[in-house]
Amino acid sequence: MKIHEYQAKELFRRFGIPTSKGVVVTDPADATRAAAQVGYPCVVKAQVHVGGRGKAGGVKLARNEDELKRHAAAILGMDIKGLVVERVLLDEAVEIARELSWASSWTGRPSTRCSWSRQRAGWTSRRWR
Ligand SMILES: Nc1ncnc2c1ncn2[C@@H]1O[C@H](COP(=O)(O)OP(=O)(O)OP(=O)(O)O)[C@@H](O)[C@H]1O
Ligand SMILES: [Mg+2]
Repeated sequence: MKIHEYQAKELFRRFGIPTSKGVVVTDPADATRAAAQVGYPCVVKAQVHVGGRGKAGGVKLARNEDELKRHAAAILGMDIKGLVVERVLLDEAVEIARELSWASSWTGRPSTRCSWSRQRAGWTSRRWR
């Protein structure tokens, strides 16, 4: 199952895990009104099932309404690695002290679960029963 970042954050919120504030839009015309819920600066983030969105130009900081409109218009409809961006997340801009990545997968049996985490250099993997 693949879920988008905004859906992952909704799940986190449901279980009381702190996340940045965020709202999803599908049309650049809705971005300004939606951003009022998040405030400035905010980060306009392509919601596609692929990594490397920032490097592809699909993640941009908006410090004001003009920048927001420009980035939302540019990112909605953008092609990132063959996927067309149909939604953007307007995400509260946060100060990043340390960035970690984490992923996990399992094959249906709890005995074969694995997880991967990435710190500054490279991925480490772990398997548990
Ligand atoms: N809410 C936020 N506040 C501040 N900076 C952010 C926020 N979200 C993303 N960024 C910045 O944008 C970068 C790219 O976003 P993110 O890592 O979520 O996307 P990605 O698909 O993993 O793209 P990449 O592979 O380019 O990192 C992050 O490394 C971070 O520097
Ligand atoms: Mg990243």
